[in-house]
Amino acid sequence: MSATLVVAAVEDRAALAIESLSLSFGGVMALSGIDLTVAPGEIRAVIGPNGAGKSSLINVVSGLYRPDHGRVWLGGRSFAAVPTDRLAALGVARTFQNLALFKGLSVLDNVAVGLNHGFRAGVFAQIAGLPGARRERAAAQERAAAVLDFFHLTDMRDRLVGTLSYGVQKRVELARAVVARPRLLLLDEPMAGMTLTEKRELTGFIRAIRDELQATIVLIEHDIGVVMGLSDRVAVLDYGRLIGDGTPEAIRANQAVIDAYLGVAHDLEAGEGI
Ligand SMILES: Nc1ncnc2c1ncn2[C@@H]1O[C@H](COP(=O)(O)OP(=O)(O)O)[C@@H](O)[C@H]1O
Ligand SMILES: [Mg+2]
Repeated sequence: MSATLVVAAVEDRAALAIESLSLSFGGVMALSGIDLTVAPGEIRAVIGPNGAGKSSLINVVSGLYRPDHGRVWLGGRSFAAVPTDRLAALGVARTFQNLALFKGLSVLDNVAVGLNHGFRAGVFAQIAGLPGARRERAAAQERAAAVLDFFHLTDMRDRLVGTLSYGVQKRVELARAVVARPRLLLLDEPMAGMTLTEKRELTGFIRAIRDELQATIVLIEHDIGVVMGLSDRVAVLDYGRLIGDGTPEAIRANQAVIDAYLGVAHDLEAGEGI
């Protein structure tokens, strides 16, 4: 993307802009000169075969990977490397491709973990149970309870996460990511391994996060039916390169995308269009 375009994107208050991003591991180019913008309130899908660089992209945006080249713009500020410890303060939250929950903790406690960064009281004050710390803990529990309600998890609030079905665990992870009211939510294959019913349910929740919580969403997903039905724009990666970027209709008709991905791995017409 040219500098002018980036400035334009920032002036448009793009929720996220990625400029000339490259990242390699040894000889593998995980990302190669990627330019991408995500508009506020958009559901932006990222698709592509395994190893295409999708998770690497989210890992760069969430500061886990430092790119070799390029910049990430978040809320009008640009970073050569996103400070992962300030991610929550920047209004960004994410989920992981592989579940990252505390299986021995309750649903409520797992969700409340998403609020820890916002505590003002230090660890000592929390341990000592000083009034400020107690008030914060109470407010966190209240906020977590509201989010459980939003995700229809209230009945399970005291269950240990390890005892729940995989689909419900994925929903708990989503609840934890949302609890601090992020402006930008990065979801790495939130529906992988789900049944059709669970996918339908989660699709509804993702829409509700955008519509009711006014979050911008970047969604990595393999189910083309879900992607086409849910996203406003789709970016397609292949071997670390951006080979397509546009509306679901444009992507569906993009020959390079069909050749590299859609035509081989998926039957578009078979998509459920959830
Ligand atoms: N931490 C890492 N160390 C070494 N190679 C990595 C690492 N992360 C990703 N890669 C490599 O980068 C490429 C892109 O991986 P990834 O971003 O996980 O793809 P996707 O999520 O699209 O399946 C792959 O070749 C993968 O092996
Ligand atoms: Mg991945």
